[in-house]
Amino acid sequence: MKAKRIAGEKAAEYVKDGMVVGLGTGSTAYWAVKKVGEMVKEGLNIRAVPTSEETKELAEDLNIPLVSLADVNYIDLTIDGADEVDSNLNLIKGGGGALVREKIVAFHSKKLIIIVDESKIVDKLGAFPLPVEVVHFGADKTLITLEKFDCQPKLRKENGELFNTDNHNYIIDCNFEVIENPKKLNNELNELPGVVETGLFVEMADRVIVGTNEGELNIIE
Ligand code: 5RP
Repeated sequence: MKAKRIAGEKAAEYVKDGMVVGLGTGSTAYWAVKKVGEMVKEGLNIRAVPTSEETKELAEDLNIPLVSLADVNYIDLTIDGADEVDSNLNLIKGGGGALVREKIVAFHSKKLIIIVDESKIVDKLGAFPLPVEVVHFGADKTLITLEKFDCQPKLRKENGELFNTDNHNYIIDCNFEVIENPKKLNNELNELPGVVETGLFVEMADRVIVGTNEGELNIIE
């Protein structure tokens, strides 16, 4: 927990007065959002776009002023977690199921800072099953199509029920083991009917802040 906390709190230092800030989702992003909440309480003037209903509630509890993505031209800085980060700063995201909003917010951000503990750093992506968000209609057929990618796709469940995202879609987790070409795979998966988006974030991160449980911070750019 210490690793996530120090990474999250370090990232909050990049938030400056007047910015529009994208707020990520998950147990690492939680610490960044909490810190931003403290800064707002002390007078920081920002507006924020949350990447999930969970983060929206947290930000509201902390009195962080929220704005709709539609009401801003762009986001200055987004801070978010990740499930895996490779040596080119490509990511797998979506372990928490917020990948679609996270990717839209990241795409419209001038800067994307990713915060992780050191367990998330890998040579190649793929050991963490890749989340793929799919629409309900034909989801069983989309799953069969994904099987052709040799990745043991599984519809995500939570408490025995099919998991629904904030966008009222399902998630299929695809265990590739190793993803040799994240950009190509992302493009191929996004071409499939029924696929809304994948958790591959290719060439999107500007900076990765890695925390360790010993209290060290490494910043990769
Ligand atoms: C949610 C995400 C999260 O950023 C990712 O799952 C990392 O979560 P955590 O910080 O809890 O390990 O992509 O959709």
